[in-house]
Amino acid sequence: MKLLLLGSGGREHALAWKIAQSPNVEKLFIAPGNAGTAEVGMNIALKADDFEGIRAFVLSEGINMVVVGPEDPLVKGIADFFRRDSSLASIPVIGPSAAGARLEGSKDFAKGFMQRHGIPTAAYRTFTRQTLDEGKAFLRTLKAPYVLKADGLCAGKGVLIVPTLAEAERELEAMLGGMFGSASDSVVIEEYLSGIECSVFVLTDGRDYKILPEAKDYKRIGEGDTGPNTGGMGSVSPVPFASAGWMQKVEDRIIRPTINGLREEGIDYRGFIFFGLMNVLPEGADKAHASDGDPYVIEYNVRMGDPETETVMMRLQGDLVDLFKGVAQGDLARRSVAFDPRSAVCVMLVSGGYPGHYAKGYPISGLADVEGSVVFHAGTALSADGSIVTNGGRVLAVCSYGADGIEALAAAQRNAARIHFTDRYFRSDIGKDILD
Ligand code: AMP
Ligand code: GLY
Repeated sequence: MKLLLLGSGGREHALAWKIAQSPNVEKLFIAPGNAGTAEVGMNIALKADDFEGIRAFVLSEGINMVVVGPEDPLVKGIADFFRRDSSLASIPVIGPSAAGARLEGSKDFAKGFMQRHGIPTAAYRTFTRQTLDEGKAFLRTLKAPYVLKADGLCAGKGVLIVPTLAEAERELEAMLGGMFGSASDSVVIEEYLSGIECSVFVLTDGRDYKILPEAKDYKRIGEGDTGPNTGGMGSVSPVPFASAGWMQKVEDRIIRPTINGLREEGIDYRGFIFFGLMNVLPEGADKAHASDGDPYVIEYNVRMGDPETETVMMRLQGDLVDLFKGVAQGDLARRSVAFDPRSAVCVMLVSGGYPGHYAKGYPISGLADVEGSVVFHAGTALSADGSIVTNGGRVLAVCSYGADGIEALAAAQRNAARIHFTDRYFRSDIGKDILD
């Protein structure tokens, strides 16, 4: 079959790498892709949310399936766009309808959904400009730090965690005053949960689901989780505290109620669900007993995570496209998944200055010296002479296997150090907090 994957980051290179290994795939296109996806398929110069352009390409090329990488086209309704159009309706889209994508597109909707279905999450209330004073009063009932979330999509920047009440009141006013445009016309204020984060992924056909390998990502720019947030500096899979018992809690309390809740609400959901979880430990428990903790949902995403996808795809065995066919045909329950027992660690090479200002277009050298790692491209481009240059803040994801996480990290580090571009930076402590 001919498959079109939408998106252009490290997540999409990892998905493309896995899809390209499928015996089901005759041809893989990526729109718009990057220099890495060009190695495993053919890049098409179309934006992931150019629905009319995608329509024309899908029809002229005879595409049999569309897989959506990022959230934007889903929130804008690409799955509905296909189902409404008689010439596209028979082509499956792996990704939820716009109604389903509200799980990510509206924090207020997601919180209400969890409340309706008894899914554990932080206590919250939602406020608008009209209810600013009530919002401030609600803040006074909470303990520091304060968590404020813009309701709508803000490219990962819409969550503020502030240490004092005075700051929280100021930020609430600024958010409702248009700090994130219309995305912060409503603001969710919620209780702060203290614990260890874990990302859990499922693929669902709307009734049944397959749980994929779990992962943990590292968002801060600096060693020891310090400094500003980024799009992700690395990831590890598996997560040691996500034991069979802990994952059973996640499945019973969170995954199954979510899938059933979507169905009960008549929401068409066929695609990935990313559960951003906080493992909250019992009072006084130490990290050695982290599997005794209780999972809470911090956020839903309606796509895979980045840079989690890089390690998740490394560990997913078998044919991903067979699972996609299960999603499309509604017989996912009959398909099987298996995980590589090895650990995988991903170390992200980023541009100097990121997540602040950084330069692009630096030549990348040393890719041929990498041994025993898979390198996924995130922000790269092919220059006019065919060489690979930097084209973003997050540039390359260097991913390795190991018998355990420590060994995988060492291999990823070794290879990360072999790749060079001006001002490149990477963290050397990915996973150390949970692997030691
Ligand atoms: P989100 O965009 O919802 O993933 O939020 C960004 C980050 O903020 C999360 O990955 C968490 O690290 C943190 N966060 C969000 N909500 C909470 C909360 N209720 N308690 C503690 N940390 C949170
Ligand atoms: N790694 C977090 C995300 O993709 O949103």
